[in-house]
Amino acid sequence: MLITRHSQARALLSDSRYVPPPVRQDGREGTLAWLRAHVSRFSSGQTHAERRRLVTDRLAHVNPAELRPAARAMTGERDGDWRGVPTDVLAAALGVPQTRAVPAAASGYLSGEESPQADAAVAELLKVADLPAITLLLQAHTATEALIETALSHAAPGDDVDALLHETLTLDPPLKATRRLDTRTGDEVTIDLVAANRDADLPHLTFGYGLRPCPAPDHALALAAGVLEALLDGSHR
Ligand code: HEM
Repeated sequence: MLITRHSQARALLSDSRYVPPPVRQDGREGTLAWLRAHVSRFSSGQTHAERRRLVTDRLAHVNPAELRPAARAMTGERDGDWRGVPTDVLAAALGVPQTRAVPAAASGYLSGEESPQADAAVAELLKVADLPAITLLLQAHTATEALIETALSHAAPGDDVDALLHETLTLDPPLKATRRLDTRTGDEVTIDLVAANRDADLPHLTFGYGLRPCPAPDHALALAAGVLEALLDGSHR
């Protein structure tokens, strides 16, 4: 089933009978499959609530207002080479000493595509960070870079960065859809965020909604805004 309307999307995302499609639970400890079986993103019910709390507790110690200038400064220091900046700024704020393994682990995190490279990256991350921090870095990495990339594709000189981000999130969301399983029938449901966001009178659903929305919209926006400010002020183009 495909959900395209804003009201239907909100109802479904608030209904505990719809859960993220379950992931395999038998992965060897320290692998990508094992990681996916242990994070909030792919769990449901009480387990989800407990894991989500660990993540939001950790996030509560990271002040979004400090991420924006840090992302701006780092983008400048790197002469506009912004890839990796959001992840590195967030890692520093979380006290994670290095992020080399994040891209390879992030590539399999949402898709579930397993590979020796992804497993090695997860093993490397587990040496430097705990599960809540790893969850935050992997969730942040791809989504925030996609947001910046999409915003840049729409940017014009002199744009107000906050307005540009809001428009991008509403009109050209970098995450196009999310999926749920109907626990009664086993049917899979896809929520089309692009279609649901078309109703311009209502807030966008790009950061999710209901039982398990993104816990970090302010952090994501701060990181993206800092990078975009550095790029769009003209000195690195
Ligand atoms: C600092 C950057 C970010 C962090 C730390 C972060 C973190 C997270 C975490 C931990 C979850 C899982 C929540 C749970 O299991 O209950 C999540 C979910 C989600 N995030 Fe983010 N995120 C970031 C950036 C973004 C961006 C840029 C977008 C969109 C453009 C986004 C969209 C979402 C959505 C839609 C979900 C919910 C998925 C669903 O309900 O199926 N996130 N995020």
